[in-house]
Amino acid sequence: MLNEVVIKTENLTKIFEEGKKREVVALREVDLEIKRGEVFGLIGPNGAGKTTLIRILVGLLTPTKGKAWVLGKNVEEDIAHIRERVTLLPQEAGIYERLTARENLVYYGGLYGIPEKELNRRADELLEIVKLKEKEHYQVKGFSGGMKRKVLVARALIIQPEIVFMDEPTTGVDTIGARVVRNLLKKLSEEENRTIILTTHDLNEVSELCDRVGILNNGELVAIGKPNELEEKYKAANLEEVFTGLITGEGVYES
Ligand SMILES: Nc1ncnc2c1ncn2[C@@H]1O[C@H](COP(=O)(O)OP(=O)(O)O)[C@@H](O)[C@H]1O
Ligand SMILES: [Mg+2]
Repeated sequence: MLNEVVIKTENLTKIFEEGKKREVVALREVDLEIKRGEVFGLIGPNGAGKTTLIRILVGLLTPTKGKAWVLGKNVEEDIAHIRERVTLLPQEAGIYERLTARENLVYYGGLYGIPEKELNRRADELLEIVKLKEKEHYQVKGFSGGMKRKVLVARALIIQPEIVFMDEPTTGVDTIGARVVRNLLKKLSEEENRTIILTTHDLNEVSELCDRVGILNNGELVAIGKPNELEEKYKAANLEEVFTGLITGEGVYES
């Protein structure tokens, strides 16, 4: 289906510690639509609600108010259907420290019932792409932060998901590694029409990779559009200007 909407939120709101003194509105009435094959970037300062949004979309958190659908299914009603078809690269943890790089991939894929022969083929290919083939038999507990991120990226992709959620996939990854990850994501979107939702603090990465971007601030979606459209709309020279302007409230004028 052309232009098929694969993610939709309506009035999506998440409040932590509701009613208490330390109540936090992590997401505030977010309306969003993402289409199949899009690379969608979520940006915003620390604490803006990016991880919360992703966690709701994969069923790790429930909304306080509003609704969310992934692949046509309501996240509160049919999360099993969704979980079989999407993958999450979490912002933190999640890696199996005692397993080797290769075992991390194969074990995870096995949980999805992918046959071993196929898993081994995909593991070879992915480890090659993220340049960890030489280290595939090392336990990941000795890996640097960036190497672990690359293992997690590869692990997320071994199940060939329809939608890939990546929470800061390139944070801590070196320049060349980050490029490898970006190229891999670009290829997945362009050649296989997979949908990718990623968060990042690297605005150049967004300009280069993302078809559209959403800017979150204090749980609110303050802007959404193609990077160049946003630059035009706010008469900014680049996305960084749009971003800092919207977040600090200085120097942006809506045209
Ligand atoms: N489990 C939780 N309990 C209480 N507050 C939370 C929890 N998770 C996130 N928050 C709060 O919600 C807000 C949004 O957090 P988060 O979605 O992690 O932001 P981001 O990923 O954009 O940095 C922050 O104020 C954070 O402290
Ligand atoms: Mg986060």
